[in-house]
Amino acid sequence: MPYDLLIRNCGQILTLVGGPTDKPLTKSQLSDWQILANGFVACEKGRIAAVGPMLELDDSQISATTEILDAQGRVVMPGLVECHTHLVFAGNRAEEFQRKLQGESYLDILASGGGILSTVRATRAASAAELLQNALHHLDGFRRYGVTTVEAKSGYGLDKETELRLVRVALEASKRQPVRVVPTFLGAHVVPPEYKGRPAEYLHMLATEVLPELRGQAEFVDIFCEEGAFSVDDARTYLQQAHALGFGLKIHAEQLHDLGGCAMAAELGAISVDHVDYLSLPDAARIAQNGRTVAVLLPLVPLFLRQERYALGRQLIDAGVPVAVSTDFNPGSCPSKNLWLALSMACLKMGLTPLEAIAAVTLNAAWALNRAHEVGRLAEGYMADILILTLDDYRQIPYWLGENPVQEVIIGGIRQNL
Ligand code: NIG
Ligand code: FE
Repeated sequence: MPYDLLIRNCGQILTLVGGPTDKPLTKSQLSDWQILANGFVACEKGRIAAVGPMLELDDSQISATTEILDAQGRVVMPGLVECHTHLVFAGNRAEEFQRKLQGESYLDILASGGGILSTVRATRAASAAELLQNALHHLDGFRRYGVTTVEAKSGYGLDKETELRLVRVALEASKRQPVRVVPTFLGAHVVPPEYKGRPAEYLHMLATEVLPELRGQAEFVDIFCEEGAFSVDDARTYLQQAHALGFGLKIHAEQLHDLGGCAMAAELGAISVDHVDYLSLPDAARIAQNGRTVAVLLPLVPLFLRQERYALGRQLIDAGVPVAVSTDFNPGSCPSKNLWLALSMACLKMGLTPLEAIAAVTLNAAWALNRAHEVGRLAEGYMADILILTLDDYRQIPYWLGENPVQEVIIGGIRQNL
């Protein structure tokens, strides 16, 4: 079969090939993967058919139907994987941003009935059509940044009907545009007003009445473990129930305090522990032990919340914890879809090197979504989700702060209009 699509004259191909294939990259593996100079990437039926040096390109595979793109010496890499977003919501919190600029804290605003709860009011009031339109708008924004896989959490409904609607909207959005969407259930975001003071009862309702209906729809179950949200003990019980029902586990923890949520979730086999700004090094060592739980670093969140403390990315890597980087796109703590900026901030504020940060937004982010067998790498058999950048050296990726370096986005072998 001839190639459907051929990208030739790639200056540097960031293949992400070279480390283990059965678990996320840790320590030196995060920067030890292969960069191919002067190469090509060929695609067939939506998947990568071959990657190699230009000298090894087999002309017999090129026919009149092969679409040929000349990368003109630029960087070619896998589509970005965004492994933590709150994609589906209504409204915005620009007014609250003013309060934050005047010194009010994230948890104070939440305790006064604002924050997440204000987005819950807007989301409950919105129609499914409106929520879908918003989600599609944001997915289009991600696509323009070269993000080809996006996790989408529910969590702004906090009642059975609205939470189920949010997961359905994410699934519908997945069908209507090319970016791959991975739905996560975050009904346990905060305690809704109807259950005020009764967090365990709310979680019990979710576990018995909502989770059973979500099998086959949401792949992961997530919970926000924090003062003003859910305790470690309540989170443990809930995650154990979710695990028994067959869901993968995620947790928002150690965002604002060190409560021990990350280590607890890792012990239950969570696929990722997210935020980790206040994670202690002893707990990091416990997480490193299972070799599988990815710590998702979200550097745009402390930036946006005006917080001094950032996750100890360098120390986590040195301790053997696999790390990924994500935006946490949401209306409260990070209204940005710029994963390139998050990558730069992970280098500037968390001590990652450019190569580590690139692995953190591709292959390790795919591991955080249990998708590392099909996205996050440029290798034969992987989905043909490919970016051509405007840059000719990967070291410029974190350097052009806040810029979108994407020239071409290819999803499943199809060139996107940008
Ligand atoms: O990941 N921390 C909890 N949840 C989100 C923020 C949600 C919001 O503020 O609307 C986060 O930061
Ligand atoms: Fe989040």
